[in-house]
Amino acid sequence: MPQEQGLRPLPHGEAPDYRFPELEARFGPLLPMDQGMQSRVYTTADGETVVKVYRNQRGEHQQEAGNLRRAGLGDWVLDAVQADGVEALIMRRFRGHPLRRSDVSRALPRLREILSTLHHAQQGRVNVAKVEERLRRFRSALAAYPLEDLFAAVEIPLAEGLLDQPASFCHLDLWHDNILISPAGDVMVIDWTKAAWDDPLRDLALLKTGTLDLLSADQSFAAALSFLPDQAHATLRRYRAYLAMTTLHDLYWFLMNEPYEFEGERDRKLPRTRHALARLPA
Ligand SMILES: Nc1ncnc2c1ncn2[C@@H]1O[C@H](COP(=O)(O)OP(=O)(O)O)[C@@H](O)[C@H]1O
Ligand SMILES: [Mg+2]
Repeated sequence: MPQEQGLRPLPHGEAPDYRFPELEARFGPLLPMDQGMQSRVYTTADGETVVKVYRNQRGEHQQEAGNLRRAGLGDWVLDAVQADGVEALIMRRFRGHPLRRSDVSRALPRLREILSTLHHAQQGRVNVAKVEERLRRFRSALAAYPLEDLFAAVEIPLAEGLLDQPASFCHLDLWHDNILISPAGDVMVIDWTKAAWDDPLRDLALLKTGTLDLLSADQSFAAALSFLPDQAHATLRRYRAYLAMTTLHDLYWFLMNEPYEFEGERDRKLPRTRHALARLPA
């Protein structure tokens, strides 16, 4: 499938022709529909059901089913099965396509409702030790690059205790290809494998770098602010920290997984993040 204006890579070289006799005995012929980093997705012949086959066998089918239920989307889950030597999540198909640049603005109102409902429930606190540990990893891997401003944007609030907050249930993978929109403008967030309890502002930072940044820098920043629970100084600082953290995470990911794309990604992402950092209180 062509990745129009994609912000995220796909795995290289591909397409062995998989057969799923057990799954097909149950659901009928499976037609390839799409693929992401973690899975291949098929539809049934009537187009009503989606079979998501994971590339790994780590119990992600059960985990994603559980996360969908936790997020109030249990009605979409039909089953989570092991068959044909793979793990698969069976879901109802949402009639829509992943967000493209031209869809972002009209998706915003519904997306704001979905995320504010999702983030409403709180449980436990953010695992600050994990943030510190991640930051150490990013520091050592990215030491050769001038990113002091991004590190400072996280480390200073972190040292002040600003990241020690209540945790909300978060999606943690709010890329545009995980947000579907129907012709009528209904929105559905899919791909809940990474969902976990964390700082909702981390989720909103991921939404900016993964989706809102399809828009121009100024539009993206304005849209990003419209998702924040309030515009208090401390909220804006914490959001700033997570924008920097998310960008460091993306750069680290490219360095480790797609080193040839690192420089291009860095040159695309850093100006966007710096545009936002300059407009938020340090
Ligand atoms: N329930 C669904 N309804 C419609 N399309 C879906 C559904 N689930 C997945 N898809 C399509 O398959 C793609 C990959 O699914 P996703 O859950 O995002 O897997 P991955 O973890 O591999 O990214 C999505 O971007 C979307 O286009
Ligand atoms: Mg996906």
